[in-house]
Amino acid sequence: MMNKQGRPTDINTAANLSPGGVTTHTGNRGLEQDELLIYEIGDTQRTGVDLEDLPVFESRLGGITRDNEIGLAGLSEPEVMRHYTRLSRKNYAIDMGLYPLGSCTMKHNPRINEKVARLPGLADIHPLQPISTVQGALDLMDRLAHWLKTLTGMPAVAMSPKAGAHGELCGLMAIRSALDKRGENRTIVLAPESAHGTNPATAALCGYKVKSIPANKAGRVDLPALKAALGPDVAAIMLTNPNTCGLFERDIIEIADAVHAAGGYFYCDGANFNAIVGKVRPGDLGVDAMHINLHKTFSTPHGGGGPGAGPVVLSEALAPFAPVPYVIHGKDGFEMVEHVTGGAESFGRMTAFHGQMGMNIRALAFMMSHGSDGLARVAEDSVLNANYVMASLQDIMTLSFEGPCMHECLFDDRFLEGTGVTTLDFAKAMIDEGYHPMTMYFPLVVNGAMLIEPTESESKQSVDQFIGALRHLVTQAKLGNSALFTGAPYLAPLKRLDETLAARNPVLRWRKTD
Ligand SMILES: Cc1ncc(COP(=O)(O)O)c(C=O)c1O
Repeated sequence: MMNKQGRPTDINTAANLSPGGVTTHTGNRGLEQDELLIYEIGDTQRTGVDLEDLPVFESRLGGITRDNEIGLAGLSEPEVMRHYTRLSRKNYAIDMGLYPLGSCTMKHNPRINEKVARLPGLADIHPLQPISTVQGALDLMDRLAHWLKTLTGMPAVAMSPKAGAHGELCGLMAIRSALDKRGENRTIVLAPESAHGTNPATAALCGYKVKSIPANKAGRVDLPALKAALGPDVAAIMLTNPNTCGLFERDIIEIADAVHAAGGYFYCDGANFNAIVGKVRPGDLGVDAMHINLHKTFSTPHGGGGPGAGPVVLSEALAPFAPVPYVIHGKDGFEMVEHVTGGAESFGRMTAFHGQMGMNIRALAFMMSHGSDGLARVAEDSVLNANYVMASLQDIMTLSFEGPCMHECLFDDRFLEGTGVTTLDFAKAMIDEGYHPMTMYFPLVVNGAMLIEPTESESKQSVDQFIGALRHLVTQAKLGNSALFTGAPYLAPLKRLDETLAARNPVLRWRKTD
């Protein structure tokens, strides 16, 4: 049976019978309950709230009135609670198990962060409150800024960008302002071919042409190719370090020097800062701008919709162009610079307010609870776990580049040759083993990439279990048990979806059918 969205809802089909062949009256499978859309459960003729009739009032809309029913589904509170709870149980989460999504640093979100973020003095304030009543919040932002500058060895930080990609935009806008001030109209941004998609996208959004730099055999930027691409038209390079192959760019200082000598700026994508936090200060490597995904390195929630935060640290050369608003130490306490006045060079404003305050609180809680020595351990343990995974799997999977790796290890699909199993099939079979798949088909520099990032949160026992599951799957693929993969996932609430159709023709909105 199909529901109104064309999704199969009758789970008592042959493929969905429980192992004993038991069908159920409800269609549920034990505690695995089927879930309809909220519009299908609710009813426009019902309501879950008891409101008094609206008083008659004079319309102030100048005759602009709604000409049809809104059609919102009415449900009772328990129905709503159950709907969302059932949905949440179908989802995978970092609180359920290891989440090896390379390049995403899906680490544990410590509960102390949550506790602090819920303190009423922080949770209940409003960005438009008088400045004298939010001194504590501004103090917190100032402290976080101090930690970020100290950890990166950079003199300034823009706190308002709301995600890594937003931080990239902020960094490139600062670079463009600096170039404008120099009276130079440079038009090209260089990005290695292993770059995260947001890098070229950001550069294009800023109006730059993107030139791709190849990787060498060791998975790092091809230095001669980079040097050959530099010239008077190059505004900046956007380089991730450690890079998206999980490798430290050994030539990074030579890269920075070459870019600077050509008059360009060095934008470092700091998404992988987790691997070097407390160990390496990007400022010492010649970086001019770098975003830090607070939701990765500093454990604020992400995935499943948590808001991101992407503060950008800036070098001396770019600091004057940082966006407003920012916190300063005033005569009577903290103050907020909200507007670009006088001869200020700030490129303007990126967001309505000051960034993701809830994320700022959580990130500072993570830093303070770890301390500077604990943050260095974060980097050590994340690198140790990734190398342990790499060393434990490299005899049966094909490692793309020789190790050691940093915080993530990259395999490709050569080990699946002749098995009839693809990277996608392999990833789907991991779902049946109870894991969120690793990052697939990224980076693009190898075929059928499998990028695994265990993070420092995982114990040896948990990593061993994961390695065991992967070894089992590899063995099954090599034994010719391709059916285990090609139809997977068999045990998930939803089976194999047509991902191409979903990506090309997404149905994102419920529409009423007659
Ligand atoms: C290397 C890299 N750069 C940029 C980003 C973009 O960050 P965000 O998702 O916070 O926009 C990511 C996100 O995964 C990343 O891995």
